[in-house]
Amino acid sequence: MLIIHNAGQLCTMPLHDNGPQRGKRLGDVGLIEDGAIAIRDGNIADIGTSNDILTRHPDAETVIDAGGKLVTPGLVDPHTHVVWAGNRASEFERRIAGATYQEIMAEGGGIAATMRDTRAASLDDLIAQSLPRLLSMMRQGATTIECKSGYGLDTQTEIKILDAIVALNNALPVDLVPTFLGAHALPPEYRDDVDGYVDLVVNEMLPAVTEWKAVNWADKPLFCDVFCETGAFSLDQSRHILETAKALGFDLKIHADEFDALGGTALAVELGAASADHLVATTDEEIKLLGESDTVATSLPPTPFGLGHHHFTRASEMLAQNAVLAIATDCNPGTAWCESLQLSMAIATRYLKLTQAQALAACTVNSAFAIKRGGQVGTLQPGALGDVVIWQVDDYRMLGYRFGANLVDTVIKRGEIVHSYESG
Ligand code: NIG
Ligand code: FE
Repeated sequence: MLIIHNAGQLCTMPLHDNGPQRGKRLGDVGLIEDGAIAIRDGNIADIGTSNDILTRHPDAETVIDAGGKLVTPGLVDPHTHVVWAGNRASEFERRIAGATYQEIMAEGGGIAATMRDTRAASLDDLIAQSLPRLLSMMRQGATTIECKSGYGLDTQTEIKILDAIVALNNALPVDLVPTFLGAHALPPEYRDDVDGYVDLVVNEMLPAVTEWKAVNWADKPLFCDVFCETGAFSLDQSRHILETAKALGFDLKIHADEFDALGGTALAVELGAASADHLVATTDEEIKLLGESDTVATSLPPTPFGLGHHHFTRASEMLAQNAVLAIATDCNPGTAWCESLQLSMAIATRYLKLTQAQALAACTVNSAFAIKRGGQVGTLQPGALGDVVIWQVDDYRMLGYRFGANLVDTVIKRGEIVHSYESG
C-alpha cells in the first residue's frame, strides 16, 4: 500500500449523483485540508485526513509526504491528435502574416500536409516522434489521454496510427484512449469526390478498424469522431459515418462548431455521443440541447488561442443551461501544438471565464465522462485509479492563474511514481 499524506489541500473532485458536475455546480473541488490517500494495487483504497488515513493503515509499505502542497487527481485530456509526423512551422509563419487556417487547408496544406508526412513515416518513426509529446503531457500532469487517428486518410495509415497509439500506450505509464478519425479531412486523391471518400470511410475503414479493435483493443471503448465543418464533412456525411460507426459498436464524438455551426452538436446529442468538441460557434438552441443531454461539451481553449482568434466556447451560457463542460488541449500540429492542460486551464479562466476550481473540474472529473471513464479517473474516490498529481503549489487557485511554468511536482499513475520534479 502507498499512502500520500500531508496534502495541505487535497482536491478530491467528487462526482455529483454518480455523474459529472453539471452546469453551475461545476467547480466542486471536494476539499480536504491536511488530506491523505491510500492506494492499494493501483486503486484508491481510502481517503481522508492525514491523521485518519495513517491511523487506519499503519502498515503501508510506502509513505509519501506531500509537504503541505496541493494534491489532485491526475489530469484527464479528452481530446488530442498527438500522434503525427513532421511539423507545420512554415504554415504558422504564413498565418502570422495573415493567411487563414481555412485558406491553407483549401490549398492542400493543413491536415493534408501532416497526412503526407504521416503516410511517409514508418510505424517506428511515428512512435518516436509522438513519444516525447506524450511524455511532456504526462510531466505536466496528464495521466489519461485521448488520442485520435486522422492523419492517414487511407485505411492502411489510419491503422498504422492506431497501432502507434497501442504501442505508445504499452510503452508509457499513462493510459491512452484511441479514437478513429478517418473523416478528418479529404485526402488529395478524393479532392473532387467527398462522397467517394465518405464511402471509403463507411465501407472500408470502419469495418477494417472494427476488425483491428477485436485483435488490438478488445473489451475497451473505441471512439469514432468526424470533423463536421465547412471544407471538411457536411452534417449529412457526418451523420452517415457516425450512424454506421454506432451500429458497429463504436462510441461517438464529433468536432462541431469550430468555425461554422452546421448542426453537428444537435447530431451528437441525438446519437448519444460521449462528447461534442470545439463548440465555438454553437447556437443557443444547441446549447440548450447539450444542457438536456449527457453529451459532454468539450471545449478546446488552446485552439482559438493557437489560431489567434477572439471567440471561445460560450462556457457561461453552457453552464447556465446545465451542460456538462470539459476542457482539453486538442494537441495537434495545425491549430494548437499544446502539450499542457495547465495552459488550457489558464486560457479557460481568462476567455471562458471559468474559475480556477471550474477549470480544474473541467479537466478532471468531467473530462473523464467525455471518454466514458467517469468515476474511474479524474476523481479521488475509493475504487478509482490511483492517479494523482502532487503540485509545487499549495492552493488550487494557483492553477490557471500562474502560467508558462510547469507547476507539477510528482505524477503518480496507478500508485507508482512516474515523474518527479526533482528527478527531472
Ligand atoms: O481539432 N479541427 C480539426 N482538427 C484539428 C486540427 C488538425 C490540424 O490542423 O492538423 C483541430 O483543431
Ligand atoms: Fe481536434
